[in-house]
Amino acid sequence: MSKGRLYGKTALITGAASGLGLAMARMFHKEGAKVVMSDINADGVKTKAGELGESALGLAHDVTKEDDWAAVLSQTKDHFGGLHILVNNAGIGIGGTVVDTTLEDWRHLHTVDLDSVFLGCKLAIPVIAETCANGGRGSVLNVSSIAGVIASYNTVAYNSAKAAVRHLSKSVALYCTHEKLPITCNSIHPVFIDTPILDGIAPGAPRDMLLDKLGRQIPMGRVGEPDDVAYGALYLCSDEAKFVTGTELYIDGGITAL
Ligand code: NAI
Repeated sequence: MSKGRLYGKTALITGAASGLGLAMARMFHKEGAKVVMSDINADGVKTKAGELGESALGLAHDVTKEDDWAAVLSQTKDHFGGLHILVNNAGIGIGGTVVDTTLEDWRHLHTVDLDSVFLGCKLAIPVIAETCANGGRGSVLNVSSIAGVIASYNTVAYNSAKAAVRHLSKSVALYCTHEKLPITCNSIHPVFIDTPILDGIAPGAPRDMLLDKLGRQIPMGRVGEPDDVAYGALYLCSDEAKFVTGTELYIDGGITAL
């Protein structure tokens, strides 16, 4: 029996207490990886990591804070001996048009959804490179959104931050090739997926009605499931994708084909 597509690797997934991060952590674990699950929701992520057993570690982590990154990376090395995979997944959504978005909300969203990705790449790549110095491969996967490719009139800050994550990922990919590091960097772009982040779109609206309404915008006629994204992430973080870097994977039920 195969040991799993990520056997021998250690992965750090941010925002892993919920939604896509949790789905990726479970799938990566099932595929043989040791997983470090981090989240600003410390109790939640520790509980979820505890459910996976000894090869999972739950850590408190505010991805906007450089000191937190240093602490999480240090604990990862102490606990599992190194790091091969970083998934910059933690994120928030704030709606608003260019006219009604406050500068405070604009900055807050970019801090959580964009600065965190920069910090993660900056601080984790040297750790991944060190881990892979004597063989092995690493990968960084940044969770953007289809909103980083298709804009809406009323998600100006989210569109801006997620588009920046897309291009940042390409620069990071080329840095790794330039430095001859065995590390890939890609972005993944989900359309609406059924996770708690959708609650912010229509607070208080019945969930079924919301999912139905969002699904009608998608050619396949429904929103996605967290595992739809986790399967794509699994591929991009595995050695199967060792020649894939600086690219973007849309998991979007066909919306960008329109
Ligand atoms: P979610 O709300 O279920 O999970 C987000 C997680 O990030 C939560 O556990 C939250 O506690 C954590 N988080 C928030 N701020 C943080 C911080 N400062 N430091 C550390 N952790 C923090 O949402 P979901 O859907 O799982 O979102 C994950 C990523 O996927 C986000 O980057 C989101 O923008 C992106 N995305 C989600 C889509 C969807 O429709 N669900 C579509 C496209 C992209």
